[in-house]
Amino acid sequence: MARRSCHTLRVEHLDSPLMIEATRPRFSWIVEHPQDSYQLTVRDAAGTVAWDSGVVGGGQTTLVEYRGEPLERDADYLWTVHSFSGTAVHTAESSFATAPDLAAWEAEWIEPVQESTHHEQYSFLDWIKGETEPLPVDQRLRPAQLVRQDLEIRPELARARLYATAHGVYSAWLNGQRISDEVLAPGFDSYRHRLSVQAYDVLAMLLPGANTMGFVLADGWWSGRIGLTGTSAQFGDRLALTWQLHLGFTDGSTQVITSDSSSCSAAGPWNYSDLFIGEHYDARRADDSWLLPGFGQQGWTPVSSLGVDARTLVPFRGEPVRRVAQLPVASVEHRADGVLLDFGQVIAGRLRLKLRGQPRGQHITIEHTETLDARGEWFQNIVGMNKEQTDHYICAGDAVEEWEPEFTFHGFRYARLTGLDTLDPEYATAVVVSSDLEQTGSFSSSDARLNRLHQNVVWSQRANFLSIPTDCPQRERAGWSGDIQVFAEAAANNAGVCTFLSRWMENLRADQLPDGRIPILSPRSEHDEQSALESPGVGAIVAAAGWSDAVAILPWKLYERYGDPRVLEENYPAVCRWVEYQALEAERGLPSALEDLPLSPRRRARQRLLFNTGPHFGDWLTPSTLDGDLPLHEAMDRAPKLTSELVAPMFQIHSLDLAARMAAVLGHLADAAQFSQRAARVRAAFAAEYLDDDASLPVALQGMYALALGLEILPAAQRRRAGEHLAALVRSRGDRLDTGFLSTPFLLDALWDTGHQDLARTLLWQDKAPSWLYEVDRGATTIWEAWDAVDPAGVPRQVSMNHYAFGCVDEWLFRKVAGLAPSAPGWREISIDPDFSCGLSHAEASVQTPLGQAAVSWTVEHGQLTVNTVVPYGAGAVLNLPGQQIRLAPGTSVHQMDLLVTAN
Ligand code: BGC
Repeated sequence: MARRSCHTLRVEHLDSPLMIEATRPRFSWIVEHPQDSYQLTVRDAAGTVAWDSGVVGGGQTTLVEYRGEPLERDADYLWTVHSFSGTAVHTAESSFATAPDLAAWEAEWIEPVQESTHHEQYSFLDWIKGETEPLPVDQRLRPAQLVRQDLEIRPELARARLYATAHGVYSAWLNGQRISDEVLAPGFDSYRHRLSVQAYDVLAMLLPGANTMGFVLADGWWSGRIGLTGTSAQFGDRLALTWQLHLGFTDGSTQVITSDSSSCSAAGPWNYSDLFIGEHYDARRADDSWLLPGFGQQGWTPVSSLGVDARTLVPFRGEPVRRVAQLPVASVEHRADGVLLDFGQVIAGRLRLKLRGQPRGQHITIEHTETLDARGEWFQNIVGMNKEQTDHYICAGDAVEEWEPEFTFHGFRYARLTGLDTLDPEYATAVVVSSDLEQTGSFSSSDARLNRLHQNVVWSQRANFLSIPTDCPQRERAGWSGDIQVFAEAAANNAGVCTFLSRWMENLRADQLPDGRIPILSPRSEHDEQSALESPGVGAIVAAAGWSDAVAILPWKLYERYGDPRVLEENYPAVCRWVEYQALEAERGLPSALEDLPLSPRRRARQRLLFNTGPHFGDWLTPSTLDGDLPLHEAMDRAPKLTSELVAPMFQIHSLDLAARMAAVLGHLADAAQFSQRAARVRAAFAAEYLDDDASLPVALQGMYALALGLEILPAAQRRRAGEHLAALVRSRGDRLDTGFLSTPFLLDALWDTGHQDLARTLLWQDKAPSWLYEVDRGATTIWEAWDAVDPAGVPRQVSMNHYAFGCVDEWLFRKVAGLAPSAPGWREISIDPDFSCGLSHAEASVQTPLGQAAVSWTVEHGQLTVNTVVPYGAGAVLNLPGQQIRLAPGTSVHQMDLLVTAN
């Protein structure tokens, strides 16, 4: 079917959202024609017009702000867009609903009868020492709780919206039917400050008369084991639930039914379910009759009421976690140690099993891992406290039984099953679990290895965009701010990340400390606070250069990609507080090497401007700092020690620059000028303190030059020379990169922009470690945490195989290799500037931008260059061909030129 000419209607970036909080929501649509004018109408459920924009001249198709009658809360709206083009009018329609007033939440919190979560508290030091919990898992973990409440529903129902949330994770049923395909609700938030409430349309599931609402509750992020140390009960140790069912009837009357103490609870077939450890399910005890009206409730216990508490409730914003893909088994081997399944792809998710003719009580164990060892034997690359990643299923003995864990997920490619003699490959599926974001990007080329590299990034993104942006889906699953800031741009090509990351930013801001510090991870728990107080070395870090600066970097990147100034508005006050903190901290101390030196007043004054003290991660995991025989955690301390004094002020300057840019967009012009002046002063102080006349920095590492060039720290006159130092450092490592977390995104550009294009290309094509293609050649299917996660002989290390941070190079594949990038906020201007000399005969990329699809595809064949482009309506583009620049109008175009002739 031909694509409609006006499509992809969005409210606040979302498709038909049910929880719009904004009093002035913004509307966006995509057109496949030149729009001369538009008209928006918004109607309430009765069909009354709440807003008619009238015909508005111009091509705006994104973020048109509502300007009608005040929107009702908890109400449904239909909106229509007429997009006029010449004599044609293109019309499309969509819907949205507003959130209820959560401050007026009237439902009680209800608590099933339960043992509290076993408290397992480990510090960073315990983790280094490899402490383990003395009690076996099944003596520490507790059952998931079933909670049911009978409801009487009057006839003539016209609208039914369920609002629910939990302490723990939940799934919900009405009359035996699952109310949604969402998993792991309510998702992870900084629960001390915010707890998301979900909205579900349940009209089709309710019947006049007796109905039953059923919930299953498990520990989840609230009380289960999470984070690096696998500590439990970080936000609470009791499961609880609160919900409101808002009903509207055909006669216009309304009713709210809420969770209350008429609910009963019981432990169900889940002996335990922990996000990290895994799930233990006894199918012999599965009996769904509790989900239906008329259930006897023998052995069930009334819940207790905790009263009403709406303090932390917020409407869920964004896309829920869902099962987003299913992978068949790539190979099955029946081995002495169990049945080994290989899915051919590292994922975050879980196994769905179908079993035939298993005896009742048969115990099947499912272990998960990301890699095998060099000999192909079972190997756990993630070890440590509560990192079992093991599920258990006790068979009911039915002729056919099917099972998938409900409240856990694992990082894996391989699974080992014991308790089964044989398994038909068709009976095992890997279910990929992720926040269900719109996939917006594609990249491919004439080189299979680059294509695999891109796929690896996409897979790491999918696995780590799970409710919040995480570092890795097995060991920590923590919202590390540094990881996402380096990866955000690449992420925004591949998926629609604006709302997902904006929601995480809400958590990050909620976790900002009173003194302005932005924590290194969010959500942050009391345990995280305590652990930092008690830990040595990097374990003591609360805020860090390049991590905390995510508060400025992410909103700016989102603004560039989505053109939404509200992202800036929301974050601007937090950015101001963070840069104030940096300034105060700069005044307070001197780097330890200077502490006892007699400093001239001028130097002292300069030092007072520089945020160059305090513990930081520095250019974390810089490869050369990990060389040698030191134990890993000691070697990991080297990059922070060596690089923090330079890295911290460079990010200080960057945050000031971004604060100035944000202020300018938001119209705070005095602030903008003030931040720019401050940035200039800190820059000058940095240059005077750390840069010599030959543009050398005191730490001879690639990362320092990549950052200094990439963040535009250096005076213009010294850039070229600094680029030469960088190039020399790269060459001295055998044309290999030696950059850490923070500097890697800048390395290729820093070389390119200072005249070392060939070296940048060499690094991209390098296949000796450390390099991107080294991983691809070792069979990587995701991006690794460490470049040498697997050595050349195939021996794996116990590190994460699924960290997206170094996947930031994907943005280079789009922007430089295929040649596609935005050059004005929201892709209003597009730069199509491929590197035709990158060593490929073909590359292509496309991005579903807020304005529609932008794409480029180029081929060089027999000296003939062909470039196909797609520019969305509402955007302009510039295509750079060898020796010429072409201004492109919206639509498709083809360009051809003879390269051999040009070369002569
Ligand atoms: C995580 C990182 C994170 C880092 C902080 C690690 O354990 O996996 O990705 O950013 O700690 O340095």
